This record gives sequence, C-alpha cells and structure tokens, in this order.
Amino acid sequence: MIDLDENTVTDATLAQMATTADPRLKTIMDAAVRHLHAFAREVDLTPAEWLTSIGFLTQVGKACTDIRQEFILLSDVLGLSAVVNALHDKKAAELGTQSSLLGPFFREGAAELPLGASIIANPSVPEIVLYGQVADNDGTPLPHALVQVWQTDEHGLYDVQAHADAHMDMRGNFRTDADGRYHFRTVRPLGYSIPMDGPVGKLVQNQGRHGMRPSHIHILITAPGHRELVSALYFGDDDHIGSDTVFGVSASLVVSAANNPDCPIPGLQSVRYDFRMPRAADNDTGRVGADPASFQPAAE
Ligand code: BEZ
Ligand code: FE
Repeated sequence: MIDLDENTVTDATLAQMATTADPRLKTIMDAAVRHLHAFAREVDLTPAEWLTSIGFLTQVGKACTDIRQEFILLSDVLGLSAVVNALHDKKAAELGTQSSLLGPFFREGAAELPLGASIIANPSVPEIVLYGQVADNDGTPLPHALVQVWQTDEHGLYDVQAHADAHMDMRGNFRTDADGRYHFRTVRPLGYSIPMDGPVGKLVQNQGRHGMRPSHIHILITAPGHRELVSALYFGDDDHIGSDTVFGVSASLVVSAANNPDCPIPGLQSVRYDFRMPRAADNDTGRVGADPASFQPAAE
C-alpha cells in the first residue's frame, strides 16, 4: 500500500488502467487522465469548483435533445471541434480544400435541384450566384459530384428557425456537370449567434464573448473515390470574420461577392470558389457537428 498524494495518484491510476485491451482506448484514456490531473494541479482545483464543473456538465447533458447537441456546442466554443477538423485535414492522403464545422443545421434529404436554381424560396434581397468547379488535387474535374449546401437567410435564420413547420429552405443539393462545374443562386446569408439560451451560451457570456458566427454558406461534397469534404465559405467583410465563436474560419475559405465576368448568370453579383477533393485515405468521417441522423424536424 503506497501513500497517494496529488502527484502519485496519477501513476496509480495509469497503472490500474494498464490492463485495457483496446490499444487506442488505452492511449486516449491514459492521455485524458494525465492531462486532467495536470489541469487540476495547475489551477489548484477546489472541491467547490469541482462540484460547479460537474453541475455545469450535468446542465450541458440535460440541454441535449433529439435536435440539440449541447456537448458539441461546448466542443465548438472551446475550439476542440476546430482542432479535430485540422487534425483530420492533416491525415488526408493529399491536402484538398480545408474542412470547416458541419454545425447543427445540416439536414439529410434536401431537394436535388438543377444547376442554376435558387435555394431560397422567397428572397427579399437581390440574389447572388455561387459557382465554380469541383476537381481532384491534380485539377481533374469531378463530374456528377454531389454538392449539398445550406445556409441562413438574409436575416440570419436557418429554415428550422425561420419556418414554424420547419419545411426545407435555404438549402439544396446539386450535381456537378460533365466538367465538374456547379452554380446556383442564393442570397447573401447573415451571420448569427450560436444558441445562447443554454449552459454553453451562459459560459460564453460569462467569458465576455459575443457568441456570433460570421456570414457563411455550408458545403458538403461527395465524390466516389474521394474523401467527403465538409466545409463552409465565409464572407470576408463580416464584422465577426476574425472572431468566429466556434473557430470555423480559415483564410483559404474567405470569399467576397463581386461582378465576375465569367459568372454563368450574368448581371448578378457572384462568388467563385473551386473545391479540391483529396483521394480517399480512410473511412473517417469529416463531419464534426451534430449527428444529422439524430435530427428530427418538427414537421415535414
Ligand atoms: C453552424 O455553422 O451552423 C454552427 C456551428 C457550430 C455551432 C453553431 C452553429
Ligand atoms: Fe452555420
């Protein structure tokens, strides 16, 4: 029997967990224990603070429903989701377009629309065009790739927030043409606040953070033989472009609308963005966000 103190308890815990059969589980839990113990020692965690933390995590769990994943939101605001995305990108066989957060508003089964269609049922501002090409990393076009897009409207609301019956809007699925090209009409989305009415929102408020995400359009592209791409394009002139609450913005994903002479729909402002799809290296999902399978819209 050894006398345990705040330091030796770490080795004692690791020794007891040494029988873990699954090597990956062992690696993850060993590191978690080492870092958790070091964290408690660094901040000299008191019993009252430990209890407050347990209470906070309990509230996070209670805030989760079929359509709300407060733990993922916690991961997002702590920058953990962005770290996991960056690690995922580094593991690709080759580096394509950078990943960004899936977020909680992706929905399977949006309508497949013809190229050039609008994803907005009733736009109240002039439309813009998003267009470009999907290719592999050598620049070879990828015809018939599935391009799924979703975004907020011009007021910063997703369809599930804007429409009482949650019917699908501000989203659509497209197939690239024989040259790997895509284009569709939309409106410039407005940035919005992450949900602030739960424990994670309260934490963000207590930290003096604004809770906003800059204006963005989400994209999920699938092409056989290539790694699924989960990303988003961010409008560079948004006030919060440099302070996204969930750290989804990378410089390579920042865009602006302009009068592009090669826009497939003349007369509209447009954003051109070409996507690069790395070859499939593994079956790892790049979907860091709410499990879309768990999403149950209020009514369809
Ligand atoms: C989103 O972009 O939809 C999102 C991502 C993380 C938290 C909240 C919203
Ligand atoms: Fe979003």
